[in-house]
Amino acid sequence: MAALLTTNLGDTPLIGRGKVRDLYAVDDALLLVATDRISAFDHVLATGIPDKGKILTQISLFWFRLLKDLVPNHLITAKVSEFPAALRPYAGQLEGRSMLVKRAEMFPVECVARGYLAGSGWKEYQASKTVCGIALPAGLLDGSRLPEPVFTPATKSQDGAHDENISYESVESHVGAAEAAQLRRLTLSLYLRAAKHAQSCGIILADTKFEFGKTTEGVILADEVLTPDSSRFWDAKTWKPGGAQPSFDKQFVRNYLEEIHWNKQAPAPGLPSEVVERTRAKYLEAFRRLTGSEMES
Ligand SMILES: Nc1ncnc2c1ncn2[C@@H]1O[C@H](COP(=O)(O)OP(=O)(O)OP(=O)(O)O)[C@@H](O)[C@H]1O
Ligand SMILES: [Mg+2]
Repeated sequence: MAALLTTNLGDTPLIGRGKVRDLYAVDDALLLVATDRISAFDHVLATGIPDKGKILTQISLFWFRLLKDLVPNHLITAKVSEFPAALRPYAGQLEGRSMLVKRAEMFPVECVARGYLAGSGWKEYQASKTVCGIALPAGLLDGSRLPEPVFTPATKSQDGAHDENISYESVESHVGAAEAAQLRRLTLSLYLRAAKHAQSCGIILADTKFEFGKTTEGVILADEVLTPDSSRFWDAKTWKPGGAQPSFDKQFVRNYLEEIHWNKQAPAPGLPSEVVERTRAKYLEAFRRLTGSEMES
């Protein structure tokens, strides 16, 4: 089984390659192609996870359907047969892992919702009992559930690595008060709906990042949604505040990288086949649990 590490769509204009996705311009639309690249500690690893891009794309599509009554989204179609004819020769690279989407003017803010304390949220809390300036009760632990979900926006970093948490007032100054309020309201309502669904599947949605954009039709939900790459998923069965929680999908990868004492500088190492296999199984399990169906291959 081979991993697709990079796409090549002939003359289709490539806009950029992120850590995981390749982005192309297709007429007025965008084509987002999720490869099988995997990142850990902010670096793309030398080995991919076969089908990861397909699994994550199918997870995003599931959520777009579940959430579409809360906010319109950018999806035009994920069916290669409905893509412009010039893309058909590349169906082998695109099938299952690509989305043709409406191009939006993106808000320069990562819209993060947190229901639990972890990562940069936990760091800030330890220093000041706040997250993004929002006061929280004393006595919370790494991994604790918050009294209620909070909107904790961040700036979009240019190198894709280190986003910086910002205050709500700073969002207001970037996008204006009315749109800041709309982004916060949408982010929290999407998080609540998704976290409730995940909970019913035995998965804790600790936090997640949304990106919104604007078209002539107004504000839409863009980018990927509620995938393991944009969210912290924890297994509800093993959740135990008081330390870093195991990552649903990447824990085998992180354990391995710690074991070999990688210095977390480029070039990132590859993974042994056993770690690849076990990680692939976790992505499939996330898909199965969240959607209640098997991945089509
Ligand atoms: N509908 C859309 N219209 C315009 N831009 C979009 C749309 N959906 C997503 N984007 C943008 O496309 C880009 C996708 O890039 P991608 O997430 O793959 O890489 P990145 O953000 O550069 O880095 P990283 O891999 O760290 O996330 C992002 O800048 C995102 O904001
Ligand atoms: Mg991104």
